[in-house]
Amino acid sequence: MANQYDVLGKAPGLEELNKLSPSDVHLTIRGLNAGYGKMEILHNFDLTVSKGQSLCLIGPNGAGKSTILHSIYGFTNIFDGKIELDGNEITKLTPAEKLSKVGVAYILQDNSVFPDMTVEENLLMGGYIKDKQDEAYEEAERIFQKYDRLRNRRNQPAKVLSGGERRLLEISRALVMKPSVLLVDEPSIGLEPKYISMVFEILDDLQKAEKKTIILVEQNAKKGLEFADIGYVLVSGQTAIAGKGNDLLKNPDVGRLFLGG
Ligand SMILES: Nc1ncnc2c1ncn2[C@@H]1O[C@H](COP(=O)(O)OP(=O)(O)OP(=O)(O)O)[C@@H](O)[C@H]1O
Ligand SMILES: [Mg+2]
Repeated sequence: MANQYDVLGKAPGLEELNKLSPSDVHLTIRGLNAGYGKMEILHNFDLTVSKGQSLCLIGPNGAGKSTILHSIYGFTNIFDGKIELDGNEITKLTPAEKLSKVGVAYILQDNSVFPDMTVEENLLMGGYIKDKQDEAYEEAERIFQKYDRLRNRRNQPAKVLSGGERRLLEISRALVMKPSVLLVDEPSIGLEPKYISMVFEILDDLQKAEKKTIILVEQNAKKGLEFADIGYVLVSGQTAIAGKGNDLLKNPDVGRLFLGG
């Protein structure tokens, strides 16, 4: 059935994706068919991202954006295809293995902090899976040194945090495991504008200063594409357009369909 997204064209080839991430490739998805139960949501999906690069997924509700993050982290049924990190296959690893063995972290949000536990206790929860608790403490300490918003509230219950500080805690909790890849689903959701900028500044710093690879889904396509090096427009479980964030911002079809222009 024809729909408003048909104008976007058909899936870009691997060559095109690889051109957007030409060197130091970190994570790849090839020919992925994945979904929930027996239902296939992603169809022959490909993705390439370089180390320290940021990729933003945009697209209409239900397109399968979150399902891509879920598939990388190990929350979906994978029917076919391959996910590799630094050339090693990680397709079938469990989420716990992704986090502790290969350094892929999925940032939980939407009130995933425990309100009656202190900020410090919440942060250390991020390291519960680490064999070496000392390292988790060290990393937590480094995070407190870096973010005074958290340090100042260290021994207070997490329920006193503002919305933006809470999101910072959610991101920081994932950092305790020292991941190289951060999967971030809608970091700006439910936040006031002033906190949205703060969250993107934090992500920007993690990418630039700590060389994290960031794959993000963002409903606010303008913010997401302004932030990210590259973007994929997902429609019905397939990529319709891939390009540099800046180029997608200037693309008239993207503008009309996703930027309210
Ligand atoms: N846990 C689940 N079990 C079964 N089906 C699911 C599950 N999660 C998502 N789906 C289905 O998969 C499809 C893609 O959903 P997904 O959450 O990936 O979309 P999305 O692009 O992230 O949308 P949104 O912008 O609304 O967050 C939808 O049809 C949805 O109903
Ligand atoms: Mg989603």
